[in-house]
Amino acid sequence: MENIKAVIFDLDGVICSTDEQHYQGWQALADRLGIPFSREVNNRFRGVSRMACMDILEEIGGKHYTDEEKVEYATWKNDYYRELLGEMSPKDLSEEVKSTLDELRARGYLLTIGSSSKNTRYILQRLGLEGYFDAISDGTNIVKSKPDPEVFLKSADFLSMPYENCLVVEDAISGVEAAHAAGMKAAAVGDAAENNVGDYILESFSDLLRLLPGRNNDLNE
Ligand code: BG6
Ligand code: MG
Repeated sequence: MENIKAVIFDLDGVICSTDEQHYQGWQALADRLGIPFSREVNNRFRGVSRMACMDILEEIGGKHYTDEEKVEYATWKNDYYRELLGEMSPKDLSEEVKSTLDELRARGYLLTIGSSSKNTRYILQRLGLEGYFDAISDGTNIVKSKPDPEVFLKSADFLSMPYENCLVVEDAISGVEAAHAAGMKAAAVGDAAENNVGDYILESFSDLLRLLPGRNNDLNE
């Protein structure tokens, strides 16, 4: 861990629990389309881009939609999801997450976001974290979804940080795979941790403070 200088956080399911609102949005769309859906199936959607989720939903339902239909359905889900996000406020940012982020920053780490979501900046704004991170790489600046490493590589590039100096924090199995494809180690929470995927399994977000000691000796580098 001595070589870690930047921490790249996934957003949904790591910084905040928007994974629940995502689930509700997809469940509502699946109900509308008559496709069986569940929380277990929703785990396959973690880390995956909106349109790639739509492809999986189509496959699960054994349906064949046109590209126009897929865009219409994914937009319907996103509108539903955004309604739910509108109810979010800084109260939805857990004290544990905020104090851990603040302490990591005080210890000298750069903190960035690496999320597939095109709603990233809106969510950060709802949580009162607008302008907090040193860089943001999200669904608006990538063409390939996790498990492709693009989103994490871009996050490191935005900081001009060598990839091996970055640690990824993820809740998605696809996200851990993306970190490894980027040549980065991954600390797992949530679904990824439950599946024992990742280089470090965090029982709780604040376990990061045990993994990442102070970097104050480096401040004069
Ligand atoms: C990821 C979520 O962070 O963002 C996925 O884990 C989601 O479930 C993806 O599909 C895309 O999100 P959005 O907000 O662009 O629809
Ligand atoms: Mg996630």
